[in-house]
Parts: sequence; structure tokens; C-alpha cells
Amino acid sequence: MDNANPAPLTARRAGPLKGIAQMPGDKSISQRALILGALAEGETRISGLLESGDVHSTAGALRGFGAELTAEGPGRWRVKGTGVGQWKSPRSELDFGNSGTGSRLVMGAMATTPITAVFTGDASLRSRPMARVADPLKAFGVRYEGQGPKALMPLTLHGANAAKATTIVVKTASAQVKSALILAALNAEGETQIIQQVLTRDHTEKMLVGFGARVRSDPQINGGEVIVVEGRAKLIGCTVEVPRDPSSAAFAIVAALIVPGSEIVLPAILLNPRRIGLIETLLEMGANIKIENERVSGGEKIGDLIVRHSELKGVNVPAMRAASMIDEYPVLSIAAAFATGETNMFGLEELRVKESDRLAAVAKGLEVNGVSYVIRGDNLQVSGMGQEGVPGGGTVTTHMDHRIAMSFLTMGMASEKPVTVDDVTMIATSFPEYRDLMAGLGAIMEAP
Ligand code: S3P
Repeated sequence: MDNANPAPLTARRAGPLKGIAQMPGDKSISQRALILGALAEGETRISGLLESGDVHSTAGALRGFGAELTAEGPGRWRVKGTGVGQWKSPRSELDFGNSGTGSRLVMGAMATTPITAVFTGDASLRSRPMARVADPLKAFGVRYEGQGPKALMPLTLHGANAAKATTIVVKTASAQVKSALILAALNAEGETQIIQQVLTRDHTEKMLVGFGARVRSDPQINGGEVIVVEGRAKLIGCTVEVPRDPSSAAFAIVAALIVPGSEIVLPAILLNPRRIGLIETLLEMGANIKIENERVSGGEKIGDLIVRHSELKGVNVPAMRAASMIDEYPVLSIAAAFATGETNMFGLEELRVKESDRLAAVAKGLEVNGVSYVIRGDNLQVSGMGQEGVPGGGTVTTHMDHRIAMSFLTMGMASEKPVTVDDVTMIATSFPEYRDLMAGLGAIMEAP
């Protein structure tokens, strides 16, 4: 799984990182804004949309179903939707590029409309299991043809005719799977109940209420929740303000913590409680992160982060926190390498099915840069080498994974020797301005 035209990049130690950085819009909310806009009647106006490869792939696919999406300026989009159940079969196959979220949510969104679509993507996306979404959608009557038992792409999905509400227990700790089922339930007759043990990000539920759907979430005594969706929903276009992405901010946060003398400000970051596991963990490690001006924007909690260089110590990260920081483990592993003592991360099985097998990719990256680790089952232990002790000097294979690339570039900003990553092309799927933004703070990254 490699890119045909790789662009390697090397990060090396520089002076302190300083300044104010405006992070891009949240990827999860951007994807949902376009999808819900395409399902709604009338016009949705979006501001702060993430302009990245993944989001643009989703926009292209939604046009195939008959929605009108217009970019009016950076981050400002207008979407004219068709109404729930009114999508038509796309004339050609839908290429979702690298985007797991876009493709899986769109599968759900078309599942209860009697249309057919072919889903495909790049080599990374074509290696990711789609059965986790397509199989539960069978409860609504969909049929599909994918490749092999994991239902890899290219996958043809036939939406159900006259779908009925149902009750589904979601076995995977995945917001993508949950969201696909919620979107499918919108056009099923009656009240669908979706039961999930793990509390994954809840942007779909919250945003749907803004579009006028009747969706509620009832906590269960065992810590899980039941999401109740009233079907044959009518969605009405609305305005969406996309907050700034905490998963992209994570790279700047960890860089500032490990580069001596750093002090950076990241304004207006999304602080949804189901997204801030990394901040919680870093605070436990002794990070100097201050949250100021907490407020609500577009129905989500946001705040300004002030991050200063800190001496970190190793901690235990419980499995129950995994969902709230699932995309942040690669960069947490970098923070752990610069900490003193061991950091134990538990319950990382979902990392194996991301844009790459992130557990393996992180382990290999640590190894080639002289950091010791142990993997036991789905748990990762990183042996911290202290502020000055990370050797670096390695070349990391990124496996078409944007977060692996940005994580190991972060390492290179503070390790003894520079760190090279084999390909930074994929960074544009989630954070096209990464290089400029980090350079603006004082980071040094150059072609090797
Ligand atoms: C996402 C959910 C997570 C996350 C991904 C975005 C979403 O995936 O890793 O980057 O927007 O719903 P899973 O649902 O597979 O955990």
C-alpha cells in the first residue's frame, strides 16, 4: 500500500515553537455538514468547512446522488439537498479517495433509498473493511457485493425499498458504523433503536437535531446508550459553523509540549467531551495546557488552548478512553517517547483498521528512531526516553496514512537527529495547511 509518487519530508530540531495558529475545520463535522445538507430539503450554508482531500471526495460523491454543492469561498459552501429518500443512482462509480468516514456515512445515507451505487477509493481505503457497515445495514434490507469476507471496495450497494425501522446492537466501537445506521434510519418507517456500548463521537446525532430530525440518545445503566431515530424524517437545510479540529490540533499541541521553550495559542478548538481524550491524557502526563474562553459555537463546546513546553511523565491510558482519542494514539506515542517512564495504552484494536494498521506503523516508526516499545495483544507500552533522550534519525514508512506522517514529523522536531517520513502526500486528506502552519510556528521541515 504505497503512493505511486511519494514526497518524503524531514523534520529537525529548531528553536522554540511560538505564535498563534488557526487550525482547520473539524473533519468529522465537515463531512457530516455536506452529507446532511445533501439529504435535506432546501439550502444549507456552511462556514469553516475543512477544505481537504477527504471532504472534497465526499462532495464529489454527493453530486453523483443529485445534490448541488457549491464552494463559494475558502470554507464557505452552499449545499442544495434533495430531501430524504430522493437521491438518485449515480451514473458512475464513486471514488472516495482516502476517506473512510465519507464512504461509510454515505453508504448509510443511501441505504434506505432504492438506488444502486458503486463505492471505491485509493489503495488504503480499498484495504479497509466495509463489512462492519454493510452487514449491519442489512437489517434495513440492503444488499451488497464487495470483495471477499471483509467486503472490501469496490463495493456495490443496493438500497432497500420501503425500509422499516429496526433495533440494532452495534458491536464495533465506531462512530462511522453508528452514524451510517442513524442516517439509514432517517428513511425507514417507524422508530429505529441503535444500541451502542461505547460512547463514540456524537456529531451526527447533534447535527441532525439542527436539521430538524427527531433523534435522541438515552443513556443505559451499563454506560452505553440507545439512539432513537424517528424515520421518514424531513430534514430542513440550515446553517452550520464548523469548529476547529482537535485531531489536527493534536500535532501542534504535542510539538509545543516536546520542543523546549515553546508556547503556542490555538484559538476556538472543538472541545466535544467525546473528542478530548488526548487533552485529558496529556494533562495527566503533566502537560501545561490551559483552556480559556470556553464557549458554545454551532452547538459544540469550543475553547482557546494555550500550550507550553512541559516535562511529561508516563501514564496508563485506560481502554474506556480509546473512543474519545482514537485518532490521537499515534501522536500520543510521540509524547510518550519524550516522557519519563512508561506509558501504557490499552484497548487499541480499532487502530488496526484505520488508514493503515496504526499499531504496527507506530511500532515500526518508534523502532527505527530508537524508542523501545512492547505490544501485548491490543495494548502498546512505550518506554519514555525523557526530553533529551529520543535518538531519531530514522525513515518512517507512512503506509498512505496522514496521521502517521504528521506524528513522526512531530518527533523529528525534538529528537536528537532529524526524522524523515517517506511520503507526506496524504497529509492533504485532512490538513493541507499543516506544513505552512507548523513553519509559521517555527518548525523546520525540508525535503531530504
Ligand atoms: C470518525 C470516526 C472514527 C475516526 C475517524 C472519523 C467519524 O472512525 O477514526 O477519523 O467522523 O465518525 P471509527 O468510526 O472507525 O472509529
